[in-house]
Amino acid sequence: APAQVLQGKKVTITAGPTREALDPVRYLSNHSSGKMGFALATAAARAGAEVTLIAGPVRLATPAGVARVDVISTNDMLAAVERAADDCDLFIAAAAVADFRPAVVASQKIKKQDGNDSDVLRLVKNPDIVATIAARQVKRPFVVGFAAETEKVSEHAAGKLQRKNLDMIIANDVSDPQSGFNSDHNQVTIIDKNGELPLPAALKTELAAELVTRIAERAFP
Ligand code: C5P
Repeated sequence: APAQVLQGKKVTITAGPTREALDPVRYLSNHSSGKMGFALATAAARAGAEVTLIAGPVRLATPAGVARVDVISTNDMLAAVERAADDCDLFIAAAAVADFRPAVVASQKIKKQDGNDSDVLRLVKNPDIVATIAARQVKRPFVVGFAAETEKVSEHAAGKLQRKNLDMIIANDVSDPQSGFNSDHNQVTIIDKNGELPLPAALKTELAAELVTRIAERAFP
């Protein structure tokens, strides 16, 4: 067994995409596989944590010893995270949350002959889950976010660290086909107030164990 660096700690992790209904048969979502979040949940549980994994719609098995909460929409994910965060030492936001949702969810299937063909979708902004938890004055866990970027990776990630008041952000370049969405591999840089630490490219499962060690060092010194 790996070192029990999260022994006695309660850890909440989000994973996968969120999905926003347009009507009873359609939705907006993204290509997140949930692999990184599930790998982190596995690694955290192996390191002794009591893990709550809040998962969007993904086709992945629940890791051993992990309590899983399945959600669909961003608002549902936020509600589940708010509940879990009330009794939590560490929150890792690995979900690829839909930034917008349809302003109205049609109760019947939207028809082509409605006459508004070029202007069917009105969107509203979703809440930022990780920023909501990081803004807490009480019951605030150590908060770790992810930043998937296609350019100026460290610059954009460092901006998010600040704006969202995170304790740490894990940045990756999703324009690299060898890492990011759907891949089994990833290459990330850990950024916090002390600076940047690039980690070597690795399998997401191996990387998750490394990240858990690094996060635990900073969260529970
Ligand atoms: O701003 P951006 O979406 O790139 O930020 C990514 C980080 O913020 C990830 O940790 C993601 O899980 C989190 N996030 C969130 N709620 C949102 C959008 C992003 O928790 N609505």
